[in-house]
Amino acid sequence: MQKYEIFKPCDLVIYGALGDLSTRKLLISLYRLEKAELLENETQIIGVDLHKKENKGFVKIAQASLKEFLNEDIDKSVWEKFSSRLSYLQIDLTQMDQYKKLKTVIDSKQRVLINYFSVAPFLFKHICQGLAQSGILTDDAKVVMEKPLGHDLKSSQEINSAFAEVFKEDQIFRIDHYLGKETVLNLLALRFANSIFTSNWDHNTIDSIQITVAEEVGIEGRWDYFDQTGQTRDMLQNHLLQILTFIAMEPPVNLEAKSIRREKIKILEALRPITVENVAKKTVRGQYSSGFLKGHEVPGYLEEDGATTDSTTESFVALRVDIDNWRWADVPFYLRTGKRMHNKRTEIVINFKQLPHNIFKDSFIDLPANKLVIHLQPKEGIDIQMLNKVPGIGGNIKLQKTKLDLSFSETFKNKKVFGGYERLILEAMRGNPTLFLSREEIEQAWTWIDSIRNAWEHQNESPKPYPAGSWGPVSSVALLARDGRAWEE
Ligand code: BG6
Repeated sequence: MQKYEIFKPCDLVIYGALGDLSTRKLLISLYRLEKAELLENETQIIGVDLHKKENKGFVKIAQASLKEFLNEDIDKSVWEKFSSRLSYLQIDLTQMDQYKKLKTVIDSKQRVLINYFSVAPFLFKHICQGLAQSGILTDDAKVVMEKPLGHDLKSSQEINSAFAEVFKEDQIFRIDHYLGKETVLNLLALRFANSIFTSNWDHNTIDSIQITVAEEVGIEGRWDYFDQTGQTRDMLQNHLLQILTFIAMEPPVNLEAKSIRREKIKILEALRPITVENVAKKTVRGQYSSGFLKGHEVPGYLEEDGATTDSTTESFVALRVDIDNWRWADVPFYLRTGKRMHNKRTEIVINFKQLPHNIFKDSFIDLPANKLVIHLQPKEGIDIQMLNKVPGIGGNIKLQKTKLDLSFSETFKNKKVFGGYERLILEAMRGNPTLFLSREEIEQAWTWIDSIRNAWEHQNESPKPYPAGSWGPVSSVALLARDGRAWEE
C-alpha cells in the first residue's frame, strides 16, 4: 500500500451532491480531510445535481450538513479553505448534451478527475455514457460508486458491463464502507503480524467462528429501498462476506490490491453452496415485530412508514457457512445480522477447540475452550478468554475464567481515528484500489447469494417474527444448538 502517494490535485465531482449520502457522509468526510491537511491545495469539489442552484446555495447546504452531522464545532479557518473548493453544476444526468457543462470546470491536464456516483443505480449507465461523450475523460480519471451494485448476479453484471464500456477495471473503485473501518483493517494486522495467530488459525485449533453484525436501527424511513432489498442483500452479500474473507483468507503475498483480492476471491469460490436441499437446516430468516429498545417502544417492520402489510422481506438472517478448502475443513462459520436487535454490536468470535484431556476436574468437569473475541464496533478491541489459577494455598488447584482485554481507545488514546469514508475517498484519490472491491469479487458473492435466495423461494416460507430489542428469532438459537453450539451473548 506504500507506493501510492497523493501525486496530483483532484477534481472531485459528486453526482447526486444534494442527496443523503453526499450531505450526511461525503461532505463531512471531505471537511475532515481538509482539517487533517490531506487535500491538495488545488483540489476542487464540484457538486452536480438536478436542482437549480448557485455555487453559494451549495456552500450553504454543505455548511448546514456540517452543523448537523459533524459532531464538533466547525473550525473557521478550515471551513474557509474548504468552502472555497466547492462549486455546483445543475445537470439532468439523463440528458447527454448537459454533460458538456463539466468542461467549464474540469481541467484533466492539471487535476485527476474523480467521479463519485452518489446516485440511484438506474443513473449509472447514463452517467457513464454522458462522461464518455463529454470529452473530459483521460486514462487516469476514476469512478467511485457503492452499493447497491445490482440485486443479483445478472443485474450486477449489467452494471459492471456498463462501467467496463467506458472505464478500465483499474479506474473503477467500488466501495464497501466496512473496508474503510479501522478495526476491519486491523484484522490483517492481527492475523498476519502476530505469530501466535498465524500458526493457530485453522481446523487443527479452531472449532468454529461466529460473525455477528447486529444493528439497533430499523429501516430508518427507507421502506422502498429496504423492502426491495432485505438484510441478506443489504448486509450479508457485502459487509459480512467481506469480514468473512478477511478472517478466512490465506496470507496474501503482500499488501497490494492484486494479492489481497486474489486471496479473497479464493474464499468466495470455496463457499459451499446453500441449496434447496439444505437451506432449511442452514439458514434462518426473521422479521421484527414491535418491541422495546432501551426502554422505548418501537414499531414492528410491517408498521414502519410506507409499509405494505403483507411484505415477507427479512430484516434478520442467520446461517451456517462452510468453506470447502484445506484450512477450514469441518470448521463452521455462523453468521448473523439483523435490524432492531438488542444492541449495536459487530463482533467476531473465534472459538478454539477443547483440550483433549482435562486434569482440572475439580474446577471444571468440562474444561472451557479459549475464545478470541474481536470487537469491531461500537467498542473496538480484542479480548481473549482463558483460564487462570485462582491465587491461594492449601487444597486443590482451582481455575477461573479470565479475560485478557485490549481496548483500542485506551491503547491508542492519542491517535485520531478516521471514519471509513475519509479513508476510502483518500485512497481513491491516491489511486490505491486495495480497499475496494473487484468485479470478480462482487459477482462471485452474488453467485453464492443468488443460490440461497433461490432456495428460499422454493421453500416458500415467511420469515420468523422476532420482537424488536431481542437477538432474533428462536430458530437462530436452534441453528447452532443442532450442532451442539451456542451464540456468544
Ligand atoms: C449500510 C446498510 O450499508 O450499512 C444499512 O445499507 C446499515 O442498512 C449500514 O444500517 C450499517 O453500517 P454501520 O457502519 O453502521 O455498521
